[in-house]
Amino acid sequence: MVTRYADVRAVLRDADDAFSSEQAFIPQIAMPSPMLPTESDPPATRMYRSILLREMTPERVDPLAPRMSEVCAEIIDSFRDRGHCDAVNDFAREYPIRIFVEFFGLPAERREEFREHAHTFLHSPPQRPTEWAAIRAIVAGALAAKRQSPEGDLLSAIGNGRIDDELIDIETATNIAATVFLGGLDTLPSNIAWSLRFLAMHPEMRRQLVEAPSVIPQAVEEFLRFYSVANPVRRAVRDVDVGGTVIRGGDRVFLVTGRADRDESEFEEASCVRFDRGVNRHIAFGAGAHRCLGSHLARHELVVAMAEWHARIPEYRIPASAEVSFNGGVLAVASLPLEWDVGA
Ligand code: HEM
Repeated sequence: MVTRYADVRAVLRDADDAFSSEQAFIPQIAMPSPMLPTESDPPATRMYRSILLREMTPERVDPLAPRMSEVCAEIIDSFRDRGHCDAVNDFAREYPIRIFVEFFGLPAERREEFREHAHTFLHSPPQRPTEWAAIRAIVAGALAAKRQSPEGDLLSAIGNGRIDDELIDIETATNIAATVFLGGLDTLPSNIAWSLRFLAMHPEMRRQLVEAPSVIPQAVEEFLRFYSVANPVRRAVRDVDVGGTVIRGGDRVFLVTGRADRDESEFEEASCVRFDRGVNRHIAFGAGAHRCLGSHLARHELVVAMAEWHARIPEYRIPASAEVSFNGGVLAVASLPLEWDVGA
């Protein structure tokens, strides 16, 4: 496990020398086809990413903001008058998937099924091969249709993408689309739930967001740092020194971004959440050749989630008798009961 900020960053940025992303899972489970671009190394990585990069730019994502607010408000309004909810099930999981299926181009009414597949893949390693096959089948069917009649969504762009000036082959397109499906469905709920849990436990910080919503983008950045939920893995291709420890060729390293992003040598008062943190070079989205392609979309969604929630439910708490539960893989809050006074 690599935990220091400088070491995690160095390993992430070393994609063409000592570390590879191929066969880099812990535990390593034989998969019938690779996740792309995730399980590739440069120069191939750049080729796969080029298909996605232009679809996930600010120009493509910024116009979605009003729709994000609309969906978010609709979901919160569906339970606000009840005075309680499970913030994970009712909100943190429901909102990102509704945005994602529209952006990606999958039918909204099947979102529960999609969410289950992504969740099982990311949290139950032994089930990865079957879940991967199921996800591939979902996206392959949609890709074939969108190749015939493109619809302006991400799946249409992937299915009609070009590599070296040739139309992408359907196998590669399927592996890329299935990877985006996984990247887009579980990380955001985790971050939203951690943020709400923190704010429920720290009323004075919550009031800062309510009274000055302009602080929300900085708060989101700080929550990304403080709760870095995704931990990339790399495989050493030769013996290599990482921060004074020799990693043997063939061994895998687990890059603990959550620990690295609380490293005092990089962040002043690293174990405190500070909304006034100036420079915040966190690596919640990774770094280097595989840096998260969805980071712009993710940031937008997180800012909207915090803004809409606190505009509607400014005061809330975890009930004294409630049990908050957690799970691993992507570090996640599994259940977060919250309650508030109706009419407050
Ligand atoms: C808070 C939300 C998110 C977090 C913390 C996060 C984190 C990460 C991290 C750490 C990586 C690097 C993995 C590696 O180095 O092996 C990554 C890659 C990736 N993410 Fe995200 N992600 C988030 C949201 C999203 C969203 C919303 C999407 C898509 C809609 C997305 C799509 C991807 C893709 C396609 C990759 C693979 C890039 C590559 O291998 O070149 N992510 N993400």
